[in-house]
Amino acid sequence: MKLSLRFVLPLILVLAAIAYIVAPLVDQLTLRWFMRDLDMRSSLIARTIQQPLLEQLDAGKKNKVVALFNTITKDERLYAIGYCASPTAKALVSRSFQHLIHCENLDRWADSNELLLPSTQGPLHVSVLPMASTAAPEGRLVLVHDMSFITHRSEETKRYLFYFFMGLALVISLITVIIAQLSWRGWMSGMRSLLRGEGLLWQLASGEQPSPPEFKPIARDLQRLVRELESETRARDEEQITWSPESLRSILHSELRGEDIIVVSNREPYIHQRIDGRIEVQRPASGLVTALEPIMRACSGTWIAHGSGTADREVVDRFDRVAVPPETPAYQIRRVWLSKEEEKGYYYGFSNEGLWPLCHIAHVRPTFRTSDWTQYVAVNRKFAKAVVSESRTKNPIVLVQDYHFALLPKMIREVLPDATIITFWHIPWPNPESFAICPWRDEVLEGMLGSSILGFHTQFHCNNFVDTVDRFIEARVDRESFTVSYGGKLTAVRRYPISIEWPPAPEMVQKPVPDCRSNIRQLHKLPAEHKLGVGVDRLDYTKGITERFHAIERLLELNPEWVGRFTFVQIAAPTRSGIEEYQHHESQVRDMAMRINSRFDSNLPPPIVLKVEHHEPREVYEYFRAADLCFVSSLHDGMNLVAKEFVAARDDDRGVLILSQFTGAARELPEALIVNPYDADQCAAALHLALTMPADEQRDRMRLMRGLVAEFNVFRWAGRMLLDAAAMRRRSRLLDKNGHGEI
Ligand code: G6P
Repeated sequence: MKLSLRFVLPLILVLAAIAYIVAPLVDQLTLRWFMRDLDMRSSLIARTIQQPLLEQLDAGKKNKVVALFNTITKDERLYAIGYCASPTAKALVSRSFQHLIHCENLDRWADSNELLLPSTQGPLHVSVLPMASTAAPEGRLVLVHDMSFITHRSEETKRYLFYFFMGLALVISLITVIIAQLSWRGWMSGMRSLLRGEGLLWQLASGEQPSPPEFKPIARDLQRLVRELESETRARDEEQITWSPESLRSILHSELRGEDIIVVSNREPYIHQRIDGRIEVQRPASGLVTALEPIMRACSGTWIAHGSGTADREVVDRFDRVAVPPETPAYQIRRVWLSKEEEKGYYYGFSNEGLWPLCHIAHVRPTFRTSDWTQYVAVNRKFAKAVVSESRTKNPIVLVQDYHFALLPKMIREVLPDATIITFWHIPWPNPESFAICPWRDEVLEGMLGSSILGFHTQFHCNNFVDTVDRFIEARVDRESFTVSYGGKLTAVRRYPISIEWPPAPEMVQKPVPDCRSNIRQLHKLPAEHKLGVGVDRLDYTKGITERFHAIERLLELNPEWVGRFTFVQIAAPTRSGIEEYQHHESQVRDMAMRINSRFDSNLPPPIVLKVEHHEPREVYEYFRAADLCFVSSLHDGMNLVAKEFVAARDDDRGVLILSQFTGAARELPEALIVNPYDADQCAAALHLALTMPADEQRDRMRLMRGLVAEFNVFRWAGRMLLDAAAMRRRSRLLDKNGHGEI
């Protein structure tokens, strides 16, 4: 309505102005036409009366002439008629206008051609025509027409013109408003459907053209704009949320309608081991487990994993489930049992001798065996069956973890087409050339593209993945939205940098830092003020432990004042020891530690303490809190959560983190001393800098890093993925309602 008024009023005003300008022009034009008509009329009258008039004049019958004139002036428009025999003669004039015509003024009169009569209040038109007779060769006939009818007509014309323009304005306005309303509605509904993404999604699903052609050029721009707005809003929302177990739970309930979550990983979060006749529960050294466990405690649900502990079978129920954490059960582990052959081929073989070295640049050749691949396929299928049997709905949310399950997303999708599958790849993704050497590269990619969302730690790994897909399989890659469309299904490839629980569980930091310092030093028989460095890793060749030891050796060479005053404790959790490369690596690490220790005075505290054994998280935190520095020297690492855990452990704002530039964490923690682990001299200098760093600087750096980890904790990591999954499910529900199926 407002729009209509805004349009109609100006239109009426414009047309009124036009009418105002046009009316005088029309007036002048019609006046000219009337004058010409009157001239012609006068000539006609003159010609008609010429004969009888001249006869009367010649006969000298002036009365008859006046009578003739009186008869003629009965015509209502002919106001007066007169005859002048000469300029000095007295005019013979019809009765109505006797006093007005004077023969001596005729020429001036004829020129002015009009005059006003008081009686008529209107203009008069005067025609002076020659009418010579024998007696009066200069005779002239004067015809005076009343032009008041022209004035009336002109006013009428003006009035009609005004009505005409007003009518025109109304009609134009009405038509315009109706057309505008109709097309506005059409556009709005078109825009709305585009904004909901129906146009493009429908196109993708069915190949049809649902949106009007005029929308096509703007559809992509519009969707990009909406995505940007959405992500801005999400970023704002994300920032406003205090990310905690509670906020994660509330997202799950509000955004995902309380759906249960199913997590699938190879490594289980709690391993039951029979040790000395007793069952002990261990928490494995795995970044994946560190990140996912608090999420499951917050959200409940089921975690499906390989039951690898020696007492695992003893504690499960008849459905192979066990509730955990043991002290306060919050979710359940569903254990999947693997035979020795399956474990050998799927876990040790294809996963850890094939994909692991393939994805890490650590200069260890991948080994691919057909027998391993066969087991990998079989075990993925076994886990897919477990997922299907654990899901209570047709569209569960399944969080598939890591390179052990590249085929799982597609296998789940085949049975549960409506499942929301979020796959997170915890390790780096190589460039297409490197990935190309995998003999089953197409199958691996196709399997992963069964996911709704595919997450990596860094944008660099997302780019590598999308490039690899683009290079090797027939999929449609959209680099604007970072999606891959394959087999009619859409996979969003996203960056979700993983993190840790924040604030850390109270029991992790309950022992005061001074106690941790003195306990650990006492444990290792070190003096109270002895400088202590710590490294916590699985005994894996990607962690750069030998490079780290080399750097410590260089430090002692370059700065011998640290000999006997600095000790580096390396906690090395045994891992994948069935693999030759790992056995070799372990002996290399042990030899190197011994060699370096033996190089320096054996009466002094050793430069390196190597602890190749499993440590529970609480023990690890005690080392973090006791140390002056933590050294993470991975040769290649998706994220590396040890770096973030060290920061989380230091609520005293002390301690220095030395961090490899080849970890995902280095992008988030620039306040650490960032090093190239291949450069021993640079690492030695960083060690020296860390050992001599003033307390103020330690505090400043540590506070910044703690701020980052606090803000981007693991609840936010999971929350972002769940929010994205929720948005996808909403969209898919919308499409289902319209009968277009899920994309
Ligand atoms: C890496 C992998 C995880 C794995 C962990 C421990 O962090 O990304 O999937 O659980 O190493 O390795 P393990 O082979 O002992 O499970």
